[in-house]
Amino acid sequence: MKTIKTVGVCGAGTMGSGIAQVFAQHGFSVVLFELNEAVLQQAQKGIEKNLSIAVEKGKLTETEKQKTLSGITFTADLNQVKADLIIEAIVENMAIKQNLFADLVAINTTETILTSNTSSLAITAIAKGISQPGRIAGLHFFNPAHLMKLVEVIKGASTDEETIETLKALCITIGKTPVLCQDSPGFIVNRVARHYYVESLKILEENACKMQNIDELLESAGFKMGPFKLMDTIGNDINFAVTSSMYQAFHQEAKFRPSRIQQQKVDAGHLGKKTGKGFYDYSA
Ligand SMILES: NC(=O)c1ccc[n+]([C@@H]2O[C@H](COP(=O)([O-])OP(=O)(O)OC[C@H]3O[C@@H](n4cnc5c(N)ncnc54)[C@H](O)[C@@H]3O)[C@@H](O)[C@H]2O)c1
Repeated sequence: MKTIKTVGVCGAGTMGSGIAQVFAQHGFSVVLFELNEAVLQQAQKGIEKNLSIAVEKGKLTETEKQKTLSGITFTADLNQVKADLIIEAIVENMAIKQNLFADLVAINTTETILTSNTSSLAITAIAKGISQPGRIAGLHFFNPAHLMKLVEVIKGASTDEETIETLKALCITIGKTPVLCQDSPGFIVNRVARHYYVESLKILEENACKMQNIDELLESAGFKMGPFKLMDTIGNDINFAVTSSMYQAFHQEAKFRPSRIQQQKVDAGHLGKKTGKGFYDYSA
């Protein structure tokens, strides 16, 4: 197994900031890279806020909070992302992810383990053309990453056993529960959960019920969040991209067909909580 001391996280949006926080809280030296300066600043504020809440709840001391914050370097310079482990959490787009991986390979050694937090894209395809593809895997955290225990560890066609064993052990070190998955579209959770979103959107498209009622009904059945609240939390752009990529990967199986309603939300920039408006309004 490889020893991991330094962690690079690429993308400081919904997922990247939470992932960076978790590793810093467990004593790893973290570099958080993001292209958009405003998002990078927002990530720093968000992490500080999460840690302050943990202090208020007595789960963390003020000293631990300060130590965690000083363990993260926030940067817009990719050249600073040199680490034992890198976790990519940028847009759900194959070509953009492949370009970033190629850039990361160029500035890191062949010992670096490179992982993607993708929800649906093939790890084997992300690793295409990269030297030593045995060190490339999926490391799929759930939202919010600093709280959710589950992590899917995804084995691509070329991923080696040492990489998988290192990642599984690392998840346990940071208090997570790793589950090994093969490289199939949506892995396990997103494949099962897709119908929670797709079917609810179909009900709305058919005007069979109001979205508020669908949310209320499913919450009263025991789900923590109704599908429309959940899509707003995930981000409609990300959720739509995941459904679209799974629809293609499953050879356009009708049950994965993306919804025009969600497409419209993306076109309008109504991405959910992160833009202040999605299916619901968060501007107040
Ligand atoms: N949102 C969720 O609930 C969720 C859950 C699990 C996994 N994921 C996956 O995590 C990844 C990120 O999702 P997110 O919701 O955090 O997205 P997001 O839109 O909140 O954040 C992505 C960030 O990546 C940045 N970015 C884009 N291209 C970049 C590049 N080349 N280099 C550096 N930064 C770049 C963007 O500026 C943006 O801030 C996706 O692959 C998604 O499928 C999302």
